[in-house]
Amino acid sequence: MKILAIETSCDDTAIAVLEIRKQPSGEQAAKLEILSNIVSSQVKLHAQYGGVYPFMAKREHQKNLPLVFKQAMKKIGNKKIDAVAVTYGPGLEPCLWQGINFANDLSKKLDIPIFSVNHVESHLLANFIDGSSTAIKFPAIGLVVSGGHTQLILMKKFLDYKILGETRDDAAGECFDKVARILGLGYPGGPAIAKLARNDGGRASNKLPRPMIHQKNYDFSFSGLKTAVLYEFRKQTPETQKSKQYIQAMCAEVQQAIIDVLLAKTKKAVRDYGAKTVILGGGVVSNDELRKQFKKAFNVLVMMPAKKFCTDNAVMTAITAYFHLQKGGKPRKNIEAKADLTL
Ligand code: KG4
Ligand code: ZN
Repeated sequence: MKILAIETSCDDTAIAVLEIRKQPSGEQAAKLEILSNIVSSQVKLHAQYGGVYPFMAKREHQKNLPLVFKQAMKKIGNKKIDAVAVTYGPGLEPCLWQGINFANDLSKKLDIPIFSVNHVESHLLANFIDGSSTAIKFPAIGLVVSGGHTQLILMKKFLDYKILGETRDDAAGECFDKVARILGLGYPGGPAIAKLARNDGGRASNKLPRPMIHQKNYDFSFSGLKTAVLYEFRKQTPETQKSKQYIQAMCAEVQQAIIDVLLAKTKKAVRDYGAKTVILGGGVVSNDELRKQFKKAFNVLVMMPAKKFCTDNAVMTAITAYFHLQKGGKPRKNIEAKADLTL
């Protein structure tokens, strides 16, 4: 079967087509092939304003969706689609509705079932885009770190989730973006900070706070870290503020502060729940330093998606719909309203 998936939760208009071929012997896992994977980024538009304005993003989705759909269909030679999957949340509401309405129309027009997909879950299941979920051992601790979310999740079995903790204010990716804005580095901030941090020449120190790192819960808070950077930056002379050395050191410090907190809380959850796997997802997981330090920090299996599947894409939306379908998940006639947005 072919699933066409649509993802418009933030500023990427993404459509993917995934083909699932059952193997002749029922024993073997089905074969999955990505027939098309298009991510039409709005970064250039939002970079001018230093962040995403939901109604501007909505307008772009409205404009892009028919074009990206046409491109996807052309790529697969206009072959028949068997089901449509769409991100229903969480995300920016005006943006989500563009994708949902487009998917609803498509489902009606082609008379095919429609599946709704949770965006946070899809970031975790991006680890299984090759169709094989057998490597994961339970219990597992999931960590989703994106522009909108920072959540620690307990998975006792496949597709079973309990949120242990989350950010009380800004998400980790949001902190990268806001700090980049303070330092004049543009949007999106994560990749810009990561690039400059690589060249800090080892000057990073520990002067920035690691919010909530010693607290006994699994929650996060990143807005204080951003404020600490702002006060630090304001204390400097205009020359220092523009100095490459200072900016590079600040980037390395803020990146390390974020990684330290994410690592400490994940380690605590792994210990407390006797986890056998750490499974990561979300745009911030494309950060090389984070990837390196997470791989080193645990003596249990650490899974992370390929970098291109960490940031928003619709292949992860399709695979999530597929796994639920496999477990007996039922399609919906029409997505009328956003259902419960928690996992
Ligand atoms: O998952 P994602 O594409 O969208 C949301 O669901 O939010 O994540 C986007 C976030 C942005 O905040 C961006 O700055 C951050 O991921 N990001 C990074 C890197 N690449 C993207 N953060 C740190 N280092 C990176 N290399
Ligand atoms: Zn996302």
